[in-house]
Amino acid sequence: MKEVSSILFVCLGNICRSPLAEGIAREFVKKYNLPLKVDSAGTSGWHIDECPHAGSRQVAKKHNFSIDDLRGRRVSVYADDAFDLIIALDSSNYKDLLQLGFDKGKVKKLGDFGLNGADVPDPYGYKDMEGFEKVYQMIAFCVRNLLCMHYPVIESDSNFLDIKQPNF
Ligand code: 4NP
Repeated sequence: MKEVSSILFVCLGNICRSPLAEGIAREFVKKYNLPLKVDSAGTSGWHIDECPHAGSRQVAKKHNFSIDDLRGRRVSVYADDAFDLIIALDSSNYKDLLQLGFDKGKVKKLGDFGLNGADVPDPYGYKDMEGFEKVYQMIAFCVRNLLCMHYPVIESDSNFLDIKQPNF
């Protein structure tokens, strides 16, 4: 399998889903000392320099890590083309990334890593934490599967970060 040393997670706003994906991947990088750079960005420029959504920060805290230091930024084919993998959180992000000119060979959907290609729903308008927990489990399950494929040191059934098989 091709070596992967950098992964960029991309959603629409870069304040709900992709910062969670980055934060989860960053916890795996720390725990297993992986030689992997992780980052996240949004296809829109709506939340540049903003911290992640309160719901995403809260669900991260519930699972004992923090994403409070992350800030929103916009994806750019010029700045981000060097990433080995660009992971879209839903089909519309995927389509936008191809339209921006990213190489189709390295753009994938997160849901393809264990959830039959399901889109991770946008939780921006959710009023309670239940939706954020569901989104967290979908993201964490797929991020673990994705990292396991490239770093066999990670046990596929590890319950690190309280990851459960999502029922969606
Ligand atoms: P995200 O969620 O793409 O997961 O960061 C959203 C954040 C903001 C908006 C939409 C989705 N918005 O419309 O501002």
